[in-house]
Amino acid sequence: MRGAVFHALTVNQFDVPLVWELMERAEWLRGLDREEARTRLQGKIVATLFYEPSTRTRLSFESAVLRLGGSVVGAENARESSSSKKGETLEDVFRVVGCYADAIVIRHHDQHELDRAARFSPVPIVNAGAGSGEHPTQALLDVYTMWRELGRIEHLTVAVMGDLKYGRTVHSLLRLLAKFPGVRVRLFHPAPLGLPDDLARELAASGLALERAPDLASAIRGADVVYQTRIQFERLGGEVDPNAASLYALTKDHLALLPDHARILHPLPRVGEIAPEVDDDVRAAYFRQVENGLYMRMALLDAMLGGERR
Ligand code: CP
Repeated sequence: MRGAVFHALTVNQFDVPLVWELMERAEWLRGLDREEARTRLQGKIVATLFYEPSTRTRLSFESAVLRLGGSVVGAENARESSSSKKGETLEDVFRVVGCYADAIVIRHHDQHELDRAARFSPVPIVNAGAGSGEHPTQALLDVYTMWRELGRIEHLTVAVMGDLKYGRTVHSLLRLLAKFPGVRVRLFHPAPLGLPDDLARELAASGLALERAPDLASAIRGADVVYQTRIQFERLGGEVDPNAASLYALTKDHLALLPDHARILHPLPRVGEIAPEVDDDVRAAYFRQVENGLYMRMALLDAMLGGERR
């Protein structure tokens, strides 16, 4: 297992059996009592280096380590607060932090730099979100949530909306869904925020059934899953109308278009694309999705550092 996920940089490293192994491990860890869970990473140190802002990913990884009995060292706002500010290369950062920690969880602004530098790390690197590239652990927790909520991942119809150009969670999720048989995806996005051309080609070659919906209602009507995302204004150069999210924002009125079994997911943070009035509907699964993230990240770290399940 350790060999299979020595680094976790892209979802392309995860095949369906490995996703199942992680989901089963997440379920197993969820069922352990706190004392037993704390034996899994006893004596291990995990470093968290965050070069971009985060609430969920950093705190869930750090909580995962602590719940498994390990210790955390780290740098929040590492672009400013670490020696990267002095010009230290990422490959040197990995060589150095790898002398202290048993694994490194990193959020970085450049997927290519992360991929290149990871080759120099003596310890496993986990991509906790890289620029507008990938966010593989988010995709793992997203499919884990689909499975927990709907009982399957295969043959789901998934509406994916919002910023498909810069949204790294979408990039990883679509790559992961493409591995499961029979999944159909409907895309709906503001005009300038479609999938990057290279990703669209990659997904077409993978055989994923992908169609672009003409409007919000067509995207979500009858869908099993609505995967909503925010516009990544911090990565835009003013090419998108500040009110563009109103095109695809979900309100209570849209719920009538969804089957009773449907589920609404969002990687969060949301900034207006899902009205708070939707939260009380049982189909709104985004806060359960947050909790699943803790257990999926525990599972990944446990698989990398904790050894066999007992
Ligand atoms: N979903 C997600 O990556 O959230 P954060 O940016 O808060 O970590």
